[in-house]
Amino acid sequence: MRILVTGGAGFIGSNFIRWALSDHPQLTVVNLDALTYAGNLQNLEGIPAAHHVFMRGDIRRREDVDGAIGDGVDAIVHFAAETHVDRSILAADDFLTTNVLGTQVLIEAARRAGVPRFVHVSTDEVYGSLAPDAPAFTETDPLEPNSPYSASKAASDHLIRAAFHTFQFPAVITRCSNNYGPYQFPEKFVPLFVTNALTGEPCPLYGDGENVRDWLHVEDHARAIWAVLERGQLGEVYNVGGHAEMTNRQVAEHILDLAGAPRSLIRPVADRPGHDRRYAMNPDKLERELGWTPKWNFADGIAATVSWYRTHEDWWRAVKSGAYRDYYERQYGGRLS
Ligand code: NAD
Ligand code: DAU
Repeated sequence: MRILVTGGAGFIGSNFIRWALSDHPQLTVVNLDALTYAGNLQNLEGIPAAHHVFMRGDIRRREDVDGAIGDGVDAIVHFAAETHVDRSILAADDFLTTNVLGTQVLIEAARRAGVPRFVHVSTDEVYGSLAPDAPAFTETDPLEPNSPYSASKAASDHLIRAAFHTFQFPAVITRCSNNYGPYQFPEKFVPLFVTNALTGEPCPLYGDGENVRDWLHVEDHARAIWAVLERGQLGEVYNVGGHAEMTNRQVAEHILDLAGAPRSLIRPVADRPGHDRRYAMNPDKLERELGWTPKWNFADGIAATVSWYRTHEDWWRAVKSGAYRDYYERQYGGRLS
């Protein structure tokens, strides 16, 4: 089996490739990634080269996508996106061109090549924000995105839906809650707080710290995507979630305790504009139809994650200093802008 993964040098894509190749030794993965600031080839170290073909390219460019599909692939798993909500609030252009137009370029290339299966990796944020006592999101809830990021992801979900409806495009959509685990870019909450805790730096908690997220270990997300890739029903949406709702303050305190850092490092800062109050996912459909359940509980998963960052200081220090960008030059002899 040969699959094309987009965005495989990022956090979830690289974890997915690592997990998929260890579980399916006959698999070959073509990894198309533009290496934006969020893409890091060091995330892919140790992945068997015989089964992993890295291609630097942009999903917004038809020729890059056609080149990556080559003579054909058995499936496409589409992760590539601009993903950080705070950045989308500062400037949304790349979110629109990559998340929306890039997805349409992929749809058209996949249709031209007759790719038989396409998994579109989306997010719980497309559903908007939940009231404190509201039931968790289900797949039939309306899309009510509140940030430029989530609006761009919702638009991409609609393009997938429209392609299925109009052309019977063989796609399945996954919508997952907040992931944590190894190789997450330390602008995101968990790795930022873990690495700051390990170095005794302040941890900026937005607003009152009572916003709720539903946390899932990235390996469980990888397993869910694989289940959907293999057995998901075309045209359907599958929610993915860890039954692990927590306030940001609870998560922050947990991390600081695990890192052996004082809770006084938590510093309240101005809130994110338009900050969604609560996300919670109902993954019943995925559990019932495809037999998926999360393997990690939050306590074990976050402990393993803190321990991973503790033992991979070189990785995150290179990201924080910007030195990770030099890796490409050493490997490929080119310069990243
Ligand atoms: P990330 O920001 O860590 O990685 C994104 C990757 O996409 C990077 O390697 C980047 O170089 C690449 N990329 C960006 N623009 C590109 C382009 N134009 N062409 C080719 N490659 C490009 O993201 P992540 O956290 O790993 O998220 C992956 C996917 O999962 C996204 O679609 C995101 O919306 C979705 N998702 C993320 C979470 C989460 O908690 N992180 C939860 C649910 C869904
Ligand atoms: O829910 C899935 C989404 O999770 C993905 O679709 C996004 O790509 C991913 O970035 C993530 O979005 P969030 O906005 O939920 O994640 P982030 O790590 O930015 O923030 C998590 C929570 O922590 C959120 O309520 C904001 C808060 N926060 C975040 C940062 C970076 C802080 O309090 N302080 C911070 O410094």
